[in-house]
Amino acid sequence: MSSKVRKTIIAGNWKMHKTVAEAQALAEAVLQGVAKELAGEALPDIILCPTYVSLPAVLNVVNAPDGKTANKQNCFVGAQNMEHRDSGAFTGEIAPGMLTHLGVTHVILGHSERRQFFGETNQGVNLKTKAALAHKLVPIVCVGETLDEREGGLTDQVIRRQVAAAVEDLSAEEVAKIVVAYEPVWAIGTGKNCESPEANRVCKMIRSTINELYGTSVADGIPVLYGGSVKGSTIDEQMAQSDIDGALVGGASLKAEEFLPIIKGGAKRLKLMATKA
Ligand code: PGA
Repeated sequence: MSSKVRKTIIAGNWKMHKTVAEAQALAEAVLQGVAKELAGEALPDIILCPTYVSLPAVLNVVNAPDGKTANKQNCFVGAQNMEHRDSGAFTGEIAPGMLTHLGVTHVILGHSERRQFFGETNQGVNLKTKAALAHKLVPIVCVGETLDEREGGLTDQVIRRQVAAAVEDLSAEEVAKIVVAYEPVWAIGTGKNCESPEANRVCKMIRSTINELYGTSVADGIPVLYGGSVKGSTIDEQMAQSDIDGALVGGASLKAEEFLPIIKGGAKRLKLMATKA
């Protein structure tokens, strides 16, 4: 199986930005831009991940029946986190079923900001990955090394451990449904890109880790995204790599005019894959 069978995914992680009204306006601008500038083209999966409070508004835009947002079948809404338990006395948390009830289809798990500022562990990410799959949410599992780990030559070891921990005790059928995002912590929000060949090498290693655990047919189908200061000016080179199947975008997803060129980069990858097929 070659990379041509894998989905191309462009996800926007809006982090703790935008009021509900602003999130709605951004979603409208992105979808209208896609309808206008990419009319008739094969599109990557576009996943918009606003804050919890903006999820209903963004879902309304994505599901709007007014025809302004053509190609919306490729557009999905994701949460940035969730609790793994179904309900209970967990003040401030959001359960998986609450997300699916709204129409949310994806969830970012284990983002480095969750690990760094909110104490998320590999074990916690594993519990959340299992819960997401049990609720038919697509988990976008984030992994990545810190600058210290990279400089200490620990990148591969850290990434392998994070990937293996996230999928522990999952069946092959379950693992086949996940998306992994390689996000070197030192490249997030810093303007520093991980060089594309190196990002590709790590994405390949993520796939080979899954291959060792679950075999080629599972590993070859899993989309592995790159994240960390992705911009319109970097996306073409990133999308030309063999093992980078898309992007998880923070800062550049907050303005439609900056996010659209990245979506176009995803569309170009689809064309490239089609010519290689
Ligand atoms: P960035 O963030 O694009 O602003 O670097 C990426 C992310 O944190 O997912």
